[in-house]
Amino acid sequence: MTEWKPALPPADPGFGVYVHWPFCKAKCPYCDFNSHVRHAPPDQARFVAAFRAEIAHTRARIGQRRTESVFFGGGTPSLMEPGTVGAILDAIDAAWPLDARAEVTLEANPTSVEAGRFRGYRAAGVNRVSLGVQALDDAALKALGRMHTAEEALGAVAVARAAFERVSFDLIYARPDQKPEDWARELGRAIDEGCEHLSLYQLTIEDGTPFAALHRAGRLIVPGDEVARALWDVTQETTSAAGLPAYEISNHARPGAESRHNLLYWRYGEYAGLGPGAHGRLDTPEGRVATSTERGPEPWLARVEAEGHGGIVDEPLTRAEQADEYLLMGLRLAEGIDRARFARLAGRAFDPVRVAALLEEGMIAELPGERLRATALGLPVLDAIVADLAA
Ligand SMILES: C[S@@+](CC[C@H](N)C(=O)[O-])C[C@H]1O[C@@H](n2cnc3c(N)ncnc32)[C@H](O)[C@@H]1O
Ligand code: SF4
Repeated sequence: MTEWKPALPPADPGFGVYVHWPFCKAKCPYCDFNSHVRHAPPDQARFVAAFRAEIAHTRARIGQRRTESVFFGGGTPSLMEPGTVGAILDAIDAAWPLDARAEVTLEANPTSVEAGRFRGYRAAGVNRVSLGVQALDDAALKALGRMHTAEEALGAVAVARAAFERVSFDLIYARPDQKPEDWARELGRAIDEGCEHLSLYQLTIEDGTPFAALHRAGRLIVPGDEVARALWDVTQETTSAAGLPAYEISNHARPGAESRHNLLYWRYGEYAGLGPGAHGRLDTPEGRVATSTERGPEPWLARVEAEGHGGIVDEPLTRAEQADEYLLMGLRLAEGIDRARFARLAGRAFDPVRVAALLEEGMIAELPGERLRATALGLPVLDAIVADLAA
């Protein structure tokens, strides 16, 4: 069994850039990400110009940085031309030079068409891909509305592994009718692929999706609490036994192969969010601000072309808000949070009585270095723990 080993995280979580590509070939019935289907392919040169404008605008706002990670998320970034990815990376590098060890991830759908572009992404500077495999069972893939078979997805994983040193893939579990023993077998097969990182998400019924309508009508039944718990336990046991323990609620990696970009979010680092519907946290001369942009691709383009950026939210965060966000993000991590950093952000230490009570109830545990983490008992009620600690 590989347990997560508490190596102390860096004092400064660093700076990263998130780039949102808002288009998909088809909309999956479970997904509520900001993704749109268009009959005519988008004008990628126009998007590149808009991304350049947002980068220049943000650079003027925050000044110099060294970029430790870039993440192309979506939607389906693997619908971007490699030249589009390269041009955006060049603009980021010119504004905030990429560290020699920077992690540059691109989310890809695992179809053969997209796999054909992987070498181009590598040449453009991408060094890690995250593939949305979702299931290794064709009936389940069909039920999820996916446009690939398990074989095609595994083919894309193989192409990715030949092109990139670092490959991760996503699976969705707690699907209708899924039994723990079936999931254990499927997960075992996924682990046999030998990737360094896996994201394993429990199916969530998101409001406004076709799955939500089916669920309400009683035509899509997800596992109840007991089976969901058994599926969760299988996930933790199988991945730990294979040397890929959870470093975050849904993310598993070989020690050292954690996603630096994910860690940057959960360690409450600084990141610029570019593109339609992207969120950012920026450290400006006036303090930390929360940013977000116009969600619709065309309104975002129009706003950037008129105003030089697509931002619609730019709100200063109070110390208390920053401390709450730090807790909410950091307690998702196996490495937990640093009590001293919380005290610096909040301007006060935790209430010792509340900490003692949560420790006593087994909701949180202490780690070396004055750190606290949520336990298996506490993780499902994280919001309540955060509210309690922040009160
Ligand atoms: C932004 S999506 C991008 C991946 C890529 N477009 C694809 O679908 O292959 C990131 C991941 O979120 C997960 N996801 C999306 N909706 C979900 C839901 N309702 N429940 C659980 N996981 C979900 C999927 O595993 C997906 O790969
Ligand atoms: S799961 Fe991926 S491919 Fe499907 S709609 Fe969401 S972002 Fe697009």
